[in-house]
Amino acid sequence: MNATPETTVSDWLRRAASTLDSQLEAQLLLGHVLGRERAWLIAHGEERLDDPCQSKANALLERRQVGEPIAYLLGEREFWSRPFRVTPEVLIPRPETELIVEKALALDLPENARVLDLGTGSGCIGLTLAAERPGWQVTATDISQAALAIARQNSEDLDVGPVELLSGCWFEPLEGRRFDLIVSNPPYVAAGDIHLGKGDVRFEPESALVAGPDGLDDLRHIVDGTAAHLNPGGWLMVEIGHDQGPAGGTLLKSAGFENISILSDGAGNDRVATGQRNDGA
Ligand SMILES: C[S@@+](CC[C@H](N)C(=O)[O-])C[C@H]1O[C@@H](n2cnc3c(N)ncnc32)[C@H](O)[C@@H]1O
Repeated sequence: MNATPETTVSDWLRRAASTLDSQLEAQLLLGHVLGRERAWLIAHGEERLDDPCQSKANALLERRQVGEPIAYLLGEREFWSRPFRVTPEVLIPRPETELIVEKALALDLPENARVLDLGTGSGCIGLTLAAERPGWQVTATDISQAALAIARQNSEDLDVGPVELLSGCWFEPLEGRRFDLIVSNPPYVAAGDIHLGKGDVRFEPESALVAGPDGLDDLRHIVDGTAAHLNPGGWLMVEIGHDQGPAGGTLLKSAGFENISILSDGAGNDRVATGQRNDGA
């Protein structure tokens, strides 16, 4: 769209909403440029938009029109009612992942439990657990330095108590350390899966998504590592793909876990595999 001196807030919203087929997205983009809530936009439809604002809003609109995720354009996504900063270097936190948080918070763990979040990305799981249970000692890791920088920024912005952020491949930076709970949303998409070419996923880091030919490479690695890193009676909770429930259950069983469950998300899909470490493991 061209910048014109007479364009008002409602003119811009109407035109943007028709090209995006979404009034909400149009409001979010313009609200981001103006630093205003949606309610303000609705109440101030007659305000004129100056040229610099129109140019910024038009640039965001063009990026959205080619499919860039709205979360990357806005620079944040809400998770467990907190705003997490996101960039194209981290996975956009998903509502389904809140199931891990919900189930982790429901566990009967010691007040000062040691908790590990493997592959923390934006930090959404580990930082949320630290914010909700200030007594827990949370460690979060990622192989991506860029992701750890975002997680660090989020821990400062959200004023979450001390969370240890470590860089490295899965358990590599955790030699000799054990935890009461290990949570992870690892990559679990099979290489070549057609969904990688659709929607937001096209713009997300492949290293956060893809895990070998069947999507289970990282899950196998994590389950194998738990023997050396979970305390007796400790829990593992990992996010899995919608069709990975049976494979996830088998992996946990083979590793000697007890109390294994495959939990479904709000859409009824398999989403989290969880189990408790057998004391004799
Ligand atoms: C699916 S994303 C999850 C991010 C975040 N926990 C969430 O739920 O939004 C997987 C994360 O695992 C990290 N990762 C991939 N391979 C890894 C590895 N070998 N060791 C540690 N982290 C890894 C990626 O960088 C990415 O941040």
